[in-house]
Amino acid sequence: MTHLLHALLFDLDGVITDTAEFHYLAWKRLADEEGLPFTRADNEALRGISRRESLALLLNGKLIPEEQAEAFMARKNGYYREMLATLTPADLLPGVATLLAEVRAAGIKTAVASASRNAPEVLARLGVADQFDVIAHGGHVSRQKPAPDLFLFAAREVGIAPGECLVIEDAEAGIAAAHAAGMVAVGLGDPARVGEAEIVLPNLDGVSLADLTRAATWRVVEPGFDANRQKHRETIFTHGNGYLATRGTFEERYPGDSQATLVHGMWDDVPVSFTELANAPDWAALEIWVNGVRFDMQTGVIRDYARYLDLRTGILHRRLVWEPVPGQAVELVFERFASLADEHVLAGRVQMTPLVGEAEVKVRALLDAHVENQGILHWNPVSQAVREDGMDLVVRTRKTGKTLALSAKVNSYVVGTSTGAEAPTTNGEGVDCPGCVGVRARAQVGAGETFGVEKVMGVFSSRDTATPLEAAQDRVRAAAEAGFERLRQDHVRAWEDFWAGSDVVIEGDDEAQLAVRHGLFQLRIAAPTHDPHTSMGAKTLSGFGYRGHIFWDNEIFVLPFFTFTQPEIARNMLMYRFHSLPGARRKAAGNGFEGAQFPWESAETGDEVTPTWVPHFADPTKLVRIWTGDIQIHISADVVYAMHQFWQVTGDDRFWAEVGVPVLLETAVFWGTRAEPEGDKFAIRDVIGPDENHDHVDNNQFTNFMVRWHLQLALEMLPWLAARDPARAAQLTADLKLTPERLAHWRRVIDGLIILHDPETGMIEQFEGFYGLKDVDWGAYAGRTKSMQELLGIEGCAEHKALKQADVVALLCLLGDQFDEKTWRANWDYYVPITDHEYGSSLGPSMHAWAACRMGQPEEAYQHFMRAARADLLDVRGNAGDGIHAASAGGLWEAVVFGFAGLRVREGVVSVTPNLPKHWKKVGFWVTVRGVKRWVEVENSKLLFPQLFK
Ligand code: BGC
Ligand code: BGC
Repeated sequence: MTHLLHALLFDLDGVITDTAEFHYLAWKRLADEEGLPFTRADNEALRGISRRESLALLLNGKLIPEEQAEAFMARKNGYYREMLATLTPADLLPGVATLLAEVRAAGIKTAVASASRNAPEVLARLGVADQFDVIAHGGHVSRQKPAPDLFLFAAREVGIAPGECLVIEDAEAGIAAAHAAGMVAVGLGDPARVGEAEIVLPNLDGVSLADLTRAATWRVVEPGFDANRQKHRETIFTHGNGYLATRGTFEERYPGDSQATLVHGMWDDVPVSFTELANAPDWAALEIWVNGVRFDMQTGVIRDYARYLDLRTGILHRRLVWEPVPGQAVELVFERFASLADEHVLAGRVQMTPLVGEAEVKVRALLDAHVENQGILHWNPVSQAVREDGMDLVVRTRKTGKTLALSAKVNSYVVGTSTGAEAPTTNGEGVDCPGCVGVRARAQVGAGETFGVEKVMGVFSSRDTATPLEAAQDRVRAAAEAGFERLRQDHVRAWEDFWAGSDVVIEGDDEAQLAVRHGLFQLRIAAPTHDPHTSMGAKTLSGFGYRGHIFWDNEIFVLPFFTFTQPEIARNMLMYRFHSLPGARRKAAGNGFEGAQFPWESAETGDEVTPTWVPHFADPTKLVRIWTGDIQIHISADVVYAMHQFWQVTGDDRFWAEVGVPVLLETAVFWGTRAEPEGDKFAIRDVIGPDENHDHVDNNQFTNFMVRWHLQLALEMLPWLAARDPARAAQLTADLKLTPERLAHWRRVIDGLIILHDPETGMIEQFEGFYGLKDVDWGAYAGRTKSMQELLGIEGCAEHKALKQADVVALLCLLGDQFDEKTWRANWDYYVPITDHEYGSSLGPSMHAWAACRMGQPEEAYQHFMRAARADLLDVRGNAGDGIHAASAGGLWEAVVFGFAGLRVREGVVSVTPNLPKHWKKVGFWVTVRGVKRWVEVENSKLLFPQLFK
């Protein structure tokens, strides 16, 4: 198993041993001797703080000369050390010895980081000094906890980045210090004290490494800045709120980065690919100077770097220390988020603290329309304004005339650690260049003082209102009044609500756990919360890949997660298809068919937007004809499949009657005219199935089976609608000319459609003639790093039995109930070995994981599952820079819930059949079925919840 954490940093007292009692007794003895009142309860406040601060608390405001203070501290320390001399290995707290052995065996670094200078002696007496790579104590740093310094020192000493360290603490100040260092923490003891930690445990008794490392499964970490990996990191650090999403580029920007904020529905025309989501102005931009040197991570020295996306809270964090020139050091802490509580609100903040010496710090907070979509420009400036405390920027798409307005307020302050007071700063020198507006803030700050700049923004488009600028200004006024902290709290609460209905828990595998949460996070921020006229593109809103276009990925891979956990959002996404019926009608008519034919790639109108030609991957001066927009037609059945699943799971009859059935019938009309009569048979020739390595094929079985299912459902649902809503049924019958002849025709198509399913063997031939293709010598390609299509060439690959992704296997997953065991086994055994799992489509692995579970092969399923889990986080396909693989992210959820847990819903009744890989201890997830939300938890072959429920 891959570990997410590489070092464990232990506090000493109350964690490894309990000398808290000795401290108490030593202070108590001093207090008694000096006649100072001091109780056990008073002692609670002394946990984790320095000797001098402890003395101050003991004196309770009484002033004494420095010499006497020194003498008191020395006396207390003397008493304490007398007691330490009595420590033996028996004084190790329960569980510590076993845990340390396990941690060491796992190759994870260990350190003690304790304020106590006696730490080396204590560990020696406990007999565990050799169990730690480093023993860091208060003498090593000047600022004590809650400052992050001691943990950062320990991390540097063990050579592990802060983001990959876990702190184990029993004190509030220690938890705060861990978080300030960008580390995760496990708190031991009273949640009132350590409740801010990621995980709270009573103590370490019986605790294993895995119990601790789960603390890291809510954050994606970048251990260090690496200019060569920017594009990948930007994609996985995408944050947003379902209205827009922003890639994780840095505030100060770098050459070669790929900055983007994509807003749902802001389509503008492009050559060849028809339309794309226009990259919105950069709202995150901050330019920073310290003593006249412009902040840039490639200038001077960077240390203690930690950047992480907190999936629980939807906030992107960065913390580092920058030494622009030797002898100067400034701590910079960045945070930014797109509010999930109010999708029109964005917020960012930087806090800068000189650690050594004074510094003059300057920040320019900008809104910048100088952005592009990979070289293509989409915006005309409309208006801009700069005020002392903020700015406005209004831009319009060049071809489609859509307006986007941003309004910002900038607030800056200095907090002195000595006074705690906020000091005014110089604000208001505006930046006002064409297409770029901003506010400058400047301050002179002393060591230990913090200069903060907060930028709060409102964003509206002409799709939301006729007056987007006014709306943005109103919104930002209210947001700024609420203040950054309040906006942050509301945002965090909205994320809590989301996870409280959508989280998935995998115990026993931190990497898988993190990947699933990251996938669900990415899906949530790209799913339109309120807008029923948009849906999710194949690369979410996180990159330029596929230009924001919507594919079957949405219905077959992404929607189930929303249908089962956030039905309101699922409904929006399905409404998008309903609203795009006019485009689908045009497509059918344009191809000479009746009814509605959904486009392979869809955007604003539902018209086909698949590019007809694209540059060849090996030689971009040559063009390749793309046929999917012409002939990958199974999408029309896929849309209906998703709507039907929504109805089954939610029981939303109204949706089904008003949206689902009309779409079902109108697309059925298309199928009825598309199926080609051949004697008493019907064929669907010249198509592409899910396996795009083979185009212009006849009777692709995925397509034919889905069409047959579709037409059967249409025949069943017309009477259903007539019974429920006769007027609507009559209207549809008239509009779509659902004459008895047409219905009879559908019945003939159902009976006559060419089905290549051999009842003897169970085998389904992927399409006519597939068995006659050339075999691939897979062994000869072992260790390849390219797709089979790249290796064999487009035509060459088409001549071979080499699948890009699940095709018949996908069919088995979707219409599973129609197929017997023999069919499952035969097709699984035949198709899996001839599929390009590593470099074919990213849609394949999750589908194969799901199917492998159905085959009772969870360990094999796990191999497929991890390929999907690593597609984005580890960029195993090398293309994550183009954007999140939405289908892979949604497919992870399907693999866990439909695959490993084996969840099925039939007529509102839910069942599970767990099939977990051996090292997974438990899987839990939320499902909302027919309005009832439930937590389902399964262990291997054991259900921790009634097997069937309704
Ligand atoms: C379950 C926990 C789970 C949590 C997920 C709770 O209801 O009991 O086991 O971690 O939900 O959010
Ligand atoms: C896959 C399609 C998918 C598309 C968008 C292609 O490579 O073969 O199935 O819809 O990518 O993700």
